[in-house]
Amino acid sequence: TAATRILHEVPDLGRTAGFGKIILFGEHSVVYGYHAIAAPIALSIRAQVTRQESGTELVIPGLVTSGNAHSAESAESAESADSDLPVRIAALIIERLGISASGMRIEVFPSLPRASGLGASAALAVAIIRGMANCFNIRLTDNEVNALAFECEQIVHGTPSGIDNTVATFGRPILFRKANGARSANFSAVTVPHPIPVIIGLTGVRSLTARTVSLVRTAWAKSPSRYDGIFEQIDGLALAGVGALERGDIAELGDLMNINHGLLNALQVSSPELETLVAIARRSGALGAKLTGGGGGGAMIAIAEPDRTVAVAGAMQLAGYTTHLTEIRAATEPPATDST
Ligand code: MEV
Repeated sequence: TAATRILHEVPDLGRTAGFGKIILFGEHSVVYGYHAIAAPIALSIRAQVTRQESGTELVIPGLVTSGNAHSAESAESAESADSDLPVRIAALIIERLGISASGMRIEVFPSLPRASGLGASAALAVAIIRGMANCFNIRLTDNEVNALAFECEQIVHGTPSGIDNTVATFGRPILFRKANGARSANFSAVTVPHPIPVIIGLTGVRSLTARTVSLVRTAWAKSPSRYDGIFEQIDGLALAGVGALERGDIAELGDLMNINHGLLNALQVSSPELETLVAIARRSGALGAKLTGGGGGGAMIAIAEPDRTVAVAGAMQLAGYTTHLTEIRAATEPPATDST
């Protein structure tokens, strides 16, 4: 139907785009140094940068700005708190790449909804970095792209773990742990024996990760040991999730996802719409369903036996929600570590 877009293939976007992502296990606890698993989805953001005489123009559907990237006004005035973020991201990248003396037009082509918990801000940063590097013939390694995208994420939500920019850059399923003191962030590829279909359900409620991350921070600061206990349980689920993915054991994966959702609910980052979608998914045969990303709105994910996948998505659509179908696929390259 029109409401479902089938996105089985994660396209080879190579050097030109940033990938959107789903977090399978460990959102929020990952900010405190615990393990998380994330995978790229076939929704992405591409940016094309071309030189022009003078001035910087940033063209994004629904957000058109021009002039100096530092002072440009956004078209979405009602959401000014986050709508000037693309401008600030572009300005930081221009400065870091040392190209502030050049005029340029940055055109962004998103297939990824913003503020939906699917990693749009990190994908945008990676797309703009790669677009500018292409245009100005600047050679950047993936690790350099990732490090700069991480700086952009710090503008967007203060204390990012770095998981979103890492998946946006490398475009493969990963087990991730954030940097801690002297230790740099590290991640390893997670493999699957066969593609695992995932249904993404969108609540349609915009949610800003910065807000839910700060709610969790406040709760944790009040009773650290209570919240560390929850984070430790989520850490165990993420580590068990690696085994389940590697065996292609979707029943076990589903159980782990359901428990992770319960713990995210304990952290109070769920929402009525997310609970509705999770309930619909389970009632229509999903083996597991959980919110994904920052929560408080945004998106959820569900997995089901392959022959139930369309029925689960259909039930969500009947209730008025937009769904996407994607797949977790094995990484095709050897594991990379030592990002940031
Ligand atoms: C956002 O996609 C995931 C969070 O864990 C924040 C982060 O990792 O920076 C909520």
